[in-house]
Amino acid sequence: MTTPTAMAGLPAVSPALGKKLLEGLELVDQRLREVVDHDDPFIADASGHLVEAGGKRFRPMLTLLAAEIGEGRSPEVVDAAVGVELTHLASLYHDDVMDEATLRRGVASANAAYDNSTAILVGDLLFGRASEIVAGLGAEAVLIQAQTFVRLCAGQIQDDRQSTDEANPLEHYLKVLADKTGVLIATAARYGAMFAGCPSERIDTLREYGELIGMVFQLSDDILDIVSDAEESGKTPGTDLREGVLTLPVLYARQSTDQGSARLRELISEPLVDDALHAEALGLLRAHPAIEQAREHTQRLARRAADLARTLPASDARDALEALPLAVASRTS
Ligand code: IPE
Ligand code: IPE
Ligand code: MG
Ligand code: MG
Ligand code: MG
Repeated sequence: MTTPTAMAGLPAVSPALGKKLLEGLELVDQRLREVVDHDDPFIADASGHLVEAGGKRFRPMLTLLAAEIGEGRSPEVVDAAVGVELTHLASLYHDDVMDEATLRRGVASANAAYDNSTAILVGDLLFGRASEIVAGLGAEAVLIQAQTFVRLCAGQIQDDRQSTDEANPLEHYLKVLADKTGVLIATAARYGAMFAGCPSERIDTLREYGELIGMVFQLSDDILDIVSDAEESGKTPGTDLREGVLTLPVLYARQSTDQGSARLRELISEPLVDDALHAEALGLLRAHPAIEQAREHTQRLARRAADLARTLPASDARDALEALPLAVASRTS
């Protein structure tokens, strides 16, 4: 099932471009389904679990859209989009083990539906599948994918070990965010430009744009973890608070000095495993100005990404790329 909700947030997408992107996403989905299949029915079931559950397909959509800045879709562009989505999928299987999550894409996460070992090994298998596909795109693409995954894993490791001792926790948080999420979205845009024959400076612009919009994407995700419900996000709200993951709203709330925030500051000083305390903190945080501060920060980054998009040659695709960051900054799912 293709659920390109990211496209619903593209106010500037022309009907012709929208049609092209949807056709491209259909091809990506077909290919995804083929590559997650396996002779062993259990492995086929576990590796198809999240593909079947849906997802926004934001990264492949960005590969397809970036390609429209060059010569447009080709079999290589579609393969690159599939490679990126498979890498993302692999990281989701692992992330839910790390975060002890039970809900993903509106269904039981793989670790909950099966067990941790299965989720980890299927994540590895999916990463292997991604590498197989990217190998068909040549050595440079493989190198990029390898470097992307190293940064993604480093970001995830640092995310898991976040300390409050950092001299500048905000800077540290943004660096982790660029690594764990920004880099793969940067690669999504970069591959699109690369395989659509763009000149190197344009590929660089789209990579930089991708990293910025990727950060915006994760900042929004962190806000949604607090303000949205499971119905909208397909995930359990408050997971970051429970796991003690420091996110921007939490960092802003920690910096607040007013007396009214004292209880919240006390609660968020450590992971919140007690259900009642967790619910109390989530309620206080939802109503705290830190949420608005985090939204403003996210919008500032989104405007930087939009400014970069404006340096690209005028076209429908450029307009869509320009509108996308602010749509991502205010996304609701
Ligand atoms: C979730 O990514 C993990 C993050 C990097 C925030 P998405 O929000 O793109 O998840 P799906 O693919 O739509 O399920
Ligand atoms: C995960 O960040 C980033 C990845 C690299 C997968 P989160 O832990 O916030 O992602 P969700 O909220 O579980 O999707
Ligand atoms: Mg998670
Ligand atoms: Mg996580
Ligand atoms: Mg999250």
